[in-house]
Amino acid sequence: MDTKETINLLNEAFVHEIEATMIYVRNAFIMPQCDPSRVTEAIAVDEMRHMNWLADLIVKRGGKPSMEHKELDFGEDDLRSQLEHQVTHETEAIEIYERMIGLIEDEEVVGVLKHILDEEKRHRKEFRMRLDRMD
Ligand SMILES: [Fe+2]
Ligand SMILES: [Fe+2]
Repeated sequence: MDTKETINLLNEAFVHEIEATMIYVRNAFIMPQCDPSRVTEAIAVDEMRHMNWLADLIVKRGGKPSMEHKELDFGEDDLRSQLEHQVTHETEAIEIYERMIGLIEDEEVVGVLKHILDEEKRHRKEFRMRLDRMD
């Protein structure tokens, strides 16, 4: 895999992080309950850190971060739907990072991606815990 292909994959992940950041910031305001709202807000900050790490890797390799996100899908406005939607977003992120780790040979990039992957798994667990508490 050449540097240009690596940059393209990093940009795909970068756009997914933009979407996560914006959806979670917005949902954290709408959520009526304190605990899931605070967790969602804290995770939105993690997603923005991921944006920064990916952008840093992209720029260091001569690329530019892409801001071309698709139309944002916030899901429904009740708490259960929001949490389910957020779990789905984390699962998508996990799949993106696992695929990238299997394809990319650049060691610095892979190291960062593995760290992000661990955080996405933790995020999904946090959202699932809040869903379980609703039963
Ligand atoms: Fe992320
Ligand atoms: Fe995440």
